[in-house]
Amino acid sequence: MNILEIISKKRDKHELSSGEINWFVKEYTNGAVADYQASALLMAIYLNGMSRRETIDLTMAIMHSGEQLDLHDTLDFVIDKHSSGGVGDKTSLVVLPLVAACGVPAAKLSGRGLGYSGGTLDKMESIPGWTPNLSIDQIKAQVADIGLVLAGQTASLAPADGKLYALRDVTSTVGCLPLIASSIMSKKLAAGGDGIVLDVKIGSGAFVKTVEEGRLLAETMVNIGHDAGRNTVAVLSDMNQPLGNAAGNSLEVAEAIRTLRNDRSSPDDFWEHCLKIGSYMLYLAGRAETLEACEARLIEARDSGDGIEKFRQMVTAQGGSGDIIDNLDRLPQANFIADVTATSTGYIKQIDTENLGWAVVNLGGGRRQKTDPINPAVGFVMPVKVGDFVVKGQVLATIHADNVGGFNQAKQLILSSIQIVGEKVDKLPLFYGVVNSS
Ligand code: URA
Repeated sequence: MNILEIISKKRDKHELSSGEINWFVKEYTNGAVADYQASALLMAIYLNGMSRRETIDLTMAIMHSGEQLDLHDTLDFVIDKHSSGGVGDKTSLVVLPLVAACGVPAAKLSGRGLGYSGGTLDKMESIPGWTPNLSIDQIKAQVADIGLVLAGQTASLAPADGKLYALRDVTSTVGCLPLIASSIMSKKLAAGGDGIVLDVKIGSGAFVKTVEEGRLLAETMVNIGHDAGRNTVAVLSDMNQPLGNAAGNSLEVAEAIRTLRNDRSSPDDFWEHCLKIGSYMLYLAGRAETLEACEARLIEARDSGDGIEKFRQMVTAQGGSGDIIDNLDRLPQANFIADVTATSTGYIKQIDTENLGWAVVNLGGGRRQKTDPINPAVGFVMPVKVGDFVVKGQVLATIHADNVGGFNQAKQLILSSIQIVGEKVDKLPLFYGVVNSS
C-alpha cells in the first residue's frame, strides 16, 4: 500500500477501505508514515468526513495499536464512563464511589487536563500522597478488594491515539467528529467496558459548541460502541457555564467531597448531573429495572455515607491521606483569595466558559505545555448561573490565586466572560437529550 494513494483517495472524497485504514494506523504508529503525510490525510478527513464504516474501522485500528485491558477474570460486568471535557467537571469523583457503593465495581482509567478543560488525575493529585500510577495487577487487586480504582491511562492502551492526537493538536484537525469519536472510543474500547456511559458536553466550555454537533458526535460514538458489541449510552449535557461552582483542582475535590457528604453548600446542578450519569451506569449494569430506581439507589448510597466511605477507601488504597475528607482545609490552599464583584445590575445572559477555563490555566491550575507543573490550589468558585439576577457589587466569583498579579489577570478574564443585561433571561437546561444504541 502507498500513503500517497490513500491521501489522494480521501482528498478526492472516496471511501477508504478497511485495509487502507488499518495500514495507515499501523505504519504511522511504527514511524513509516511521516508526520507531514499523516497531517495531509487528517486534513482530508477533516474536510471530507468519514462514513460510519470508515469511522468504526479507524476506531478499531487505533484500539488494536496497543494492549487491551481485560478485567473479566476479576469482574462479571465492567462499567465505564467518559466525559468529552469541560470546566468544573468533577463528576467521576462523585459518581464512581456512589456506583461502587451500590455494588457495581468501577475501575476507571482517566486522563489529565487538555487545554482549558480539566482532567480527573490532576484533580485527584491535589490530595497529598494519592497516586494514579498503578500496574494492571494492582488495578485488578484493588477493584477486587474495594470495588473502586481511579488510575492513569497507560501508554500501552491505544498508543496510536496519543500520536495522532498530538498531531491533530498542532494541525487544526481536533474539531472533526469522526476523529474525536474514534479517539475517545478507541480508548474506551481498549479499557474493556461492557457498558459505557458517554457524557457529551455541549456549549461555550466544550469542544463541541452546538446541540446539533453534540448529537451527531453522540450518535457517532454510540454507533461505534454498538458495532463493537458494547452497550453504550450518551447523555447530552450543558457546558455553557461551569458544572457546579468550583473550577480548579483542589477546589473541585473539595466540592466533590461536599457533594458526597451532602453538605448544604454543595451545588444542586452538579448533584443532578451526577444522578443522571450514575443512574445510566447502574442501569447498564442491570442494578435496577428503571432509571428512577437507579437514582433512588444512588441517593441512598449518598445519604447512608457509603459513597463517601468508598471514596475514602480508594484515596487511602492509592496512598492518599484519607483525613482530608473530614478536614478539607488540609487540601492545598491558595496564597491570595479575593472576590470579583458585579460591575452592573441585571440578569446573567451568557458566560464564556472556555475563557473561564483559560483563567484557571493562567492561574497555574492547568498546562500550556505538557511539562508545565500544576498549582493544585488555584482556581475560582462561582456561585452564579445564567439567568440569575445580580446586583452591582454582588460577588460573582471568589478567585484563589498564587499572588495579586494572578488574581488581577483572572479577575479581568472572569469579568469579560460574564455578560449582564437588563432583560430577564431564562435559566439553561442541564441536559439536551440522551442517545441510545440503535
Ligand atoms: N478527547 C479525546 O480523547 N479525543 C479527542 O479527540 C477530543 C477529546
